[in-house]
Amino acid sequence: KVRVGVLISGRGSNLEALADYKRKADPAYDIVLVASNVPEARGLVLACRFGLPVWAHSHKGMSRADFDDLVDAEFRRHDVEVIALAGYMRLLSPEFIVKWEGRILNIHPSLLPDYKGLDTHRRALMAGEEYAGCSVHVVTEELDDGPIIAQAKVRIAARDTAETLAERVLTEEHRLYPAALDAYCRKLRQFPLPFRGEG
Ligand code: GAR
Repeated sequence: KVRVGVLISGRGSNLEALADYKRKADPAYDIVLVASNVPEARGLVLACRFGLPVWAHSHKGMSRADFDDLVDAEFRRHDVEVIALAGYMRLLSPEFIVKWEGRILNIHPSLLPDYKGLDTHRRALMAGEEYAGCSVHVVTEELDDGPIIAQAKVRIAARDTAETLAERVLTEEHRLYPAALDAYCRKLRQFPLPFRGEG
């Protein structure tokens, strides 16, 4: 199995979907650590419920590079091979991303390349879009950029608010992310990537 580390900042519903996928399928990944920059994140409680090892450390008062070094060390200590961002609401430093090149996935609540950044559903509604959705992509140095590996569409209804839309997209996120991570990990086993940050 590919050893996966999940990075969260909050609620952790996507983490829950990733962990729960085991009950429905035989995924090519195993979650070996759940890490958070927010020690009180609800997702950490969920992780414990799944019996997953957790690590938390506040980023407050630290430089981005120093905090990311802590995360990097922790993931290496657990022999993590792939990192899944699941509601991780912080930018990663370029140094970290280079070290983990091709090994970080993110789920974003929009049909990328549209609506990068925050507040995606409200912006899609304001623009009168017909569809909203979510995307899983490989993380590169540009925010919410990088190769898209999976997407799911949700039709926007006239009565939708940002909240109702977010809820329906979230349901799709929970379906999309585990399957996309699974497929990515299978591919990684078939075509191994060199580890850039070794040593
Ligand atoms: C999800 O909707 C995820 O797509 C989004 O935050 C939410 C986290 O929910 N991520 C981003 O906006 C990343 N920029 P969760 O903690 O319940 O998984």
